[in-house]
Amino acid sequence: MSDFCHTSDLIDNLSIRGLQVDDLDAVVSIETLTSVHPWSLAQFHQSIDQSAVLVSELQVLGYTVISTAADEAEIHNIAVAPEFQGRGLGSFLLDHSIGTLPAEILKLYLEVRVSNFTAIRLYTSRRFQKVGERRDYYRTEYGCEDALVMRLDIGPKDRF
Ligand SMILES: CC(C)(COP(=O)(O)OP(=O)(O)OC[C@H]1O[C@@H](n2cnc3c(N)ncnc32)[C@H](O)[C@@H]1OP(=O)(O)O)[C@@H](O)C(=O)NCCC(=O)NCCS
Repeated sequence: MSDFCHTSDLIDNLSIRGLQVDDLDAVVSIETLTSVHPWSLAQFHQSIDQSAVLVSELQVLGYTVISTAADEAEIHNIAVAPEFQGRGLGSFLLDHSIGTLPAEILKLYLEVRVSNFTAIRLYTSRRFQKVGERRDYYRTEYGCEDALVMRLDIGPKDRF
């Protein structure tokens, strides 16, 4: 899996490729900085075939974990390193993930914390729609938090 773009003048030679074992430490350190309940190295290792990394030169800037089954796919994880957020990289990663899904995939699902406004804004801008809610789905420091279930119906225009 590879692609190039010029989404930011500040970041050259951006590409997306499959996650490799050598990337795991970098991915886990981004995960630790961006998630309330970070995935472990073992979890990423188990998901290696479903994962992709966004890299500039040799530096890992972000990643996705997406599973597929029949005509559906699900985003299990997506993140951009904190110092690179807000520059269009999350959008690029998501667009690439959607655009390169196998042709038989018609629906893409995800779950997101109701308070994660940045991620919800990103998903809504990509035409994801709220299709459900899971009460007290996430544990937090203060108790529990609901999840929104969102779905994108994928059409021919979404594919590269
Ligand atoms: C969600 C995430 C991947 C987005 O990555 P990103 O590189 O910041 O995304 P982009 O720069 O492409 O911005 C996407 C949208 O979010 C908005 N946004 C980005 N950073 C923001 C911030 N700090 N505050 C408010 N909005 C913000 C952008 O304006 C953009 O909206 P627009 O297209 O309407 O202008 C990133 O914030 C992240 O890694 N978060 C932590 C992990 C996480 O929450 N993952 C999602 C789990 S469901």
